[in-house]
Amino acid sequence: MLAPSTMVRRTALLLVFLTFFNNGHAASDEDFSNLAILSPTDNPDNMLKLRGEGGLGTPCFSDSACASGLYCFACPAAGASGFQPKCTRCRITPTSAFPKNTSLPFNKYAWLTTHNSFAIFGSPSESGVPIITFFNQEDSVLEQLNNGVRGLMLDMYDFRNDIWLCHSFRGVCYDFTAFRPASKTLAEIKTFLDSNPTEVITIFIEDYVTSPNGLTSLFSKAGLMKYWMPVAAMPSYGRLWPTLQTMIQRNHRLLVFTQNSTKEATEGVAFQWRYTTENQYGDDGMNNSSCLKRGGSPAMSDMSRSLIVQNYFPSNPNPINACKHNSDGLFKMLSTCYAASGNRWSNYIAVDFYKRSTGGGAFRALDRLNGQMECGCEDVTKTCTVSHVWRTFV
Ligand SMILES: *[C@@H]1O[C@H](CO)[C@@H](O)[C@H](O)[C@H]1NC(C)=O
Ligand SMILES: *[C@@H]1O[C@H](CO)[C@@H](O)[C@H](O)[C@H]1NC(C)=O
Ligand SMILES: *[C@@H]1O[C@H](CO)[C@@H](O)[C@H](O)[C@H]1NC(C)=O
Ligand SMILES: *[C@@H]1O[C@H](CO)[C@@H](O)[C@H](O)[C@H]1NC(C)=O
Repeated sequence: MLAPSTMVRRTALLLVFLTFFNNGHAASDEDFSNLAILSPTDNPDNMLKLRGEGGLGTPCFSDSACASGLYCFACPAAGASGFQPKCTRCRITPTSAFPKNTSLPFNKYAWLTTHNSFAIFGSPSESGVPIITFFNQEDSVLEQLNNGVRGLMLDMYDFRNDIWLCHSFRGVCYDFTAFRPASKTLAEIKTFLDSNPTEVITIFIEDYVTSPNGLTSLFSKAGLMKYWMPVAAMPSYGRLWPTLQTMIQRNHRLLVFTQNSTKEATEGVAFQWRYTTENQYGDDGMNNSSCLKRGGSPAMSDMSRSLIVQNYFPSNPNPINACKHNSDGLFKMLSTCYAASGNRWSNYIAVDFYKRSTGGGAFRALDRLNGQMECGCEDVTKTCTVSHVWRTFV
């Protein structure tokens, strides 16, 4: 069965095929030059004007018409112009496109994060019972990582004498809310860390595991302890993190946070609220005039926590509207949360359906944040000078 969103996209593609069938361009390898066409004040709805060799915003009727890093996607939820499929970002800006400076403390970088990274549409049932729950993503965790996702939100439960990833309720995993044993997803994470020796991944566990040393034995068996960043190496009380370079050199390339306060002392798994603040998730987190903290988190403005997690997705995942949410709404919230966090930019941007947008989407939000934090400019992919000042770009 097709997802409704896929049907909308297919229908839009057909309409466009009938009317614009001569608009395809050959894909060119690693062509990100067109990304720079978009100035911070451009309204994504006007991107139709921006034409190039399958560059960002180019009308298209198939993915192959778009340059590398882009795919052909329509966002009817954004209004009339959204029915026209356009080359849309689906990957983080490669570091070849700008010199990535790893000499800053870890908390001076922003990372793309997927909410419920494991709740993937079309996942086969591994419990033997059809999955009846919400879906928040549409490609595998390994694909997410390859596209530049570096933060994963995973809900872990004791289930069938093992630890499973479930999208469940009341702290209990059921056959119909169980996605897969967590070890399978950790294997994908290990594959990625093994083959990308300068990348750092953060896992946020919504933790319902109570089996003794459940988490530590899970990560040990997955062969991930060699990448584990020990709690002793994490700064507490608002101090700067080690530099990204130092963490890479020490192979501290996997940060794992639990929301269970007891496990830092008992198992050495960092208690998230000692290190991060986090805003409200769901509908209440999408009110762009406020950036409220979520339950459990210290105040957004609490300077004794040096990492900031910013959620931006509705209470019920919505594949049709995700493209709209991951655009203007998200951009606006960056500055709202910046102000609420004592003039600090968010380090993790957590979204649903991370590739869906009207153009640059969550990837563009990341370039903005990294520009601000790494070099005081509006976009890390452009020449940065500290004289640039932040403007809201909606
Ligand atoms: C990286 O940033 C630091 C701190 O701003 C600066 O001293 C250093 O020169 C930069 N390195 C490169 C390669 O740009
Ligand atoms: C946290 O983990 C401990 C040890 O597994 C468990 O006993 C406790 O119930 C958990 N707390 C919550 C709130 O889940
Ligand atoms: C948004 O937040 C503001 C400030 O907290 C509040 O006054 C307003 O009622 C909220 N709007 C909605 C729709 O929740
Ligand atoms: C901010 O929220 C208001 C009220 O929900 C909405 O009308 C407006 O479009 C939002 N602004 C942006 C930029 O998303």
